[in-house]
Amino acid sequence: MSPDIDRDTANARTLAGGVVTQVLLDGRSLSQVLPNFLDQAAAVDRGLVQELGYGVLRWRFRLEALLRQLLKQPLKRKDQDIASLLLVGLYQLAYTDIPAHAAVHETVEAVRATGKRWAVPLANAVLRAYQRQRTELDTVADRQPADRHAHPEWLVEQLRADWPDDWERILAANNQRPPFVLRINARRSDPPAYRAALDAAGMAHALLPVTEHGVCLEQPVAVERLPGFAAGEVSVQDAAAQLAAPLLAVQAGMRVLDACAAPGGKTAHILERTPGVELMAVDIDAARVRRIEETLHRLGLSAQVVVGDAAQPAQWWDGRPFQRILLDAPCSATGVIRRHPDIKSLRRARDIDTLAAAQAQLLDALWPLLEPGGLLLYATCSVLRRENEAQIAAFLARHADARESTPDADWGRPLRHGRQLLPGDADGGHAATGMDGFFYARLMKVP
Ligand SMILES: C[S@@+](CC[C@H](N)C(=O)[O-])C[C@H]1O[C@@H](n2cnc3c(N)ncnc32)[C@H](O)[C@@H]1O
Repeated sequence: MSPDIDRDTANARTLAGGVVTQVLLDGRSLSQVLPNFLDQAAAVDRGLVQELGYGVLRWRFRLEALLRQLLKQPLKRKDQDIASLLLVGLYQLAYTDIPAHAAVHETVEAVRATGKRWAVPLANAVLRAYQRQRTELDTVADRQPADRHAHPEWLVEQLRADWPDDWERILAANNQRPPFVLRINARRSDPPAYRAALDAAGMAHALLPVTEHGVCLEQPVAVERLPGFAAGEVSVQDAAAQLAAPLLAVQAGMRVLDACAAPGGKTAHILERTPGVELMAVDIDAARVRRIEETLHRLGLSAQVVVGDAAQPAQWWDGRPFQRILLDAPCSATGVIRRHPDIKSLRRARDIDTLAAAQAQLLDALWPLLEPGGLLLYATCSVLRRENEAQIAAFLARHADARESTPDADWGRPLRHGRQLLPGDADGGHAATGMDGFFYARLMKVP
């Protein structure tokens, strides 16, 4: 190999190690951290940096269980850079088809590049020992469910308590690579025409009958390569998220509030389905609100877009009631771990209390804005009962003028309140990976 190629590939491991360190040490999300590291990567390395960053975070808890067995003593916090590179090395050996000699060599070179010379023989020893003792190490790591399924212990326990019959299936689905699902814009195209464009572009795909306008591509592609993307013919949105707009049952002329709207996926879907809607989209995060505006612009849609706290309507509400409210609430995102594997590391058990309190506050603050006879759709991408079924039970107990009106459906499972999709649930067209985990409950204000 030429020295240049050597340097570039070692650099990919260095960058991937940097991604992992920033997520684990600084508590920043992959989506915040990754773009900066990708900017530093040579074009040919970007795919590898992304694959290693996502892969290590997806399997982190299992990789750490292996690493614990391979180290005589744990590394210190100040040496997280080395720990991250060792995880990058183990990930390549355990979960990729990168040739083992290249994985070891390039990772050790990345360790050398940190300037911590003591760590070079350590990295060599750890990675080579893993190759020799893989079966025994895996057997030990298989003993604990958290290590076996590569999740934090608190989450395994919570899922086991909430889903005694399904928890292992949920954990396994969380470790899958997510499907790449599109929503065809009903205003600018239709499924037959758009599918013909996908065929012409050589993009194999399947229709998702559980959705109105969803197709799943066999291979993910950069959005710019999708036929008609710039012209607003299509958006990327999981099948589970595509169920929100039909459930909201919006009709032309209605005044609709999307209370936690950014980046605008469901806002856009509501507007695509039903022309003549007066929609107000609110989100607390100004940077994310700009993404709503970009999305609407690309799709040729319009709405009143506001930066505001949905729990403080006095800041932004003009006093005219809404006939429909979508509350796609901030949540633990435990239903979309396969898309955001950093959630396993970033979310803490105590966050669930804080989130559940914030969700209850949002529900209570928005309820008075709903016209009698109107519908509020509460949605989360969580699979935890406290944020979902229990949240709605408590809301109904607090509000005598609320009735549940969640319809029967051919997806997910009915709970005492609402319907739950678990990650991997069949989407009717791509059973191998299925849908994201989502919860929906529809509430009607008694006229
Ligand atoms: C699950 S995301 C919404 C996704 C969006 N509905 C879509 O389909 O594209 C939750 C959003 O709630 C916003 N949020 C959190 N707390 C909020 C609050 N108090 N008021 C308004 N928005 C809030 C977050 O900024 C985040 O954009």
